[in-house]
Amino acid sequence: MIMPRIPFRCPQTGAALTAGPEGLLRADGRIYPWLHGCAEVPDFLSPADAGEGQRASLAMYDTAAATAMYRNFLDWLFATCQQDEAAFRRDLAARLRLAPGQAALVTGCGLGDDVPAILDMLGDAGEAHAQDLSAAMVAAADALWRREMPARRGQLTLSVGDAAHLPYADGAFDAAYHFGGINLYDDIGSGIAEMARVVRPGGRVVVGDEGLAPWLHGTDFAAMVIGNNPLWGRPAPIGLLPPAARDVSLCWVLANCFWVIEFTVGEGLPALDPHVPHQGRRGGTMFTRHHGALEAVTPQTRARVSQAAAAAGLSLHDWLEQALAERLGEP
Ligand SMILES: C[S@@+](CC[C@H](N)C(=O)[O-])C[C@H]1O[C@@H](n2cnc3c(N)ncnc32)[C@H](O)[C@@H]1O
Repeated sequence: MIMPRIPFRCPQTGAALTAGPEGLLRADGRIYPWLHGCAEVPDFLSPADAGEGQRASLAMYDTAAATAMYRNFLDWLFATCQQDEAAFRRDLAARLRLAPGQAALVTGCGLGDDVPAILDMLGDAGEAHAQDLSAAMVAAADALWRREMPARRGQLTLSVGDAAHLPYADGAFDAAYHFGGINLYDDIGSGIAEMARVVRPGGRVVVGDEGLAPWLHGTDFAAMVIGNNPLWGRPAPIGLLPPAARDVSLCWVLANCFWVIEFTVGEGLPALDPHVPHQGRRGGTMFTRHHGALEAVTPQTRARVSQAAAAAGLSLHDWLEQALAERLGEP
């Protein structure tokens, strides 16, 4: 029996869930059923909420033929990009900077091909979770792991659901990983924000998908690869990272046809001291310039204030603070 150490939570409300014979149960009676034919793999999908991207992904990946077609695609991709698949996946997983005994999440896991490299870093005491929108992919991954890696199946917890609504508490994992599906998410920013939400501060997020390096656009190479698959023309979503992203890197891999973004999860906005005084004519600080702006005055008044401040040997900030304090009757 699989005993996940990181518990599932309701992806809608965050409420605790308890395991029953039919699935995971919320206190109000809502049930997330076990995936048909798979022991203790919950299905969190709400098909009624599916947007256009989800429907496109399900049409592509949630069919009986999808798993064989997808394996065929991977073989074509790595042969075309002249890369050894296992070595590529190891290099990408290494960016998670995992240590033995930690816990990692893979979103949009497909057949789970990234999980072995991640478990190698986590060791025997580590814990991997993997989820995918497609029940067919997850069922195939479950069967594959039971057949080919039975000893490690107990370290892997699988689920079906939308990666933009993850069934975990904040900060549950040490790292989160995604490669190859996010271009089709209905909301790419939410997909990345959810990965960051479930990673503890200081943990790593690695995410990548198709998208040609910008300097190749306009070349015949670009016309060929984008003509083959329009998704290869997608931009890297660097502007969609959450404000808490730190130590961010963006690079391109697989013949510069896929972008990879990696970052450390911080807390809130970056730390800086907005109260350090500026030297020079304007004076003030970043804080006073942003929060202390006054109503507009005439250009003539502005010029006279500037001259008066210079004559008094003060910055504009200090002259205005003094003049206004006097006028307001303050000492
Ligand atoms: C190209 S495959 C990549 C699979 C795997 N990451 C790999 O590298 O082999 C994309 C996967 O993303 C999944 N996917 C697409 N949209 C998703 C979503 N909103 N939530 C979770 N998985 C999604 C698809 O079902 C599919 O299995």
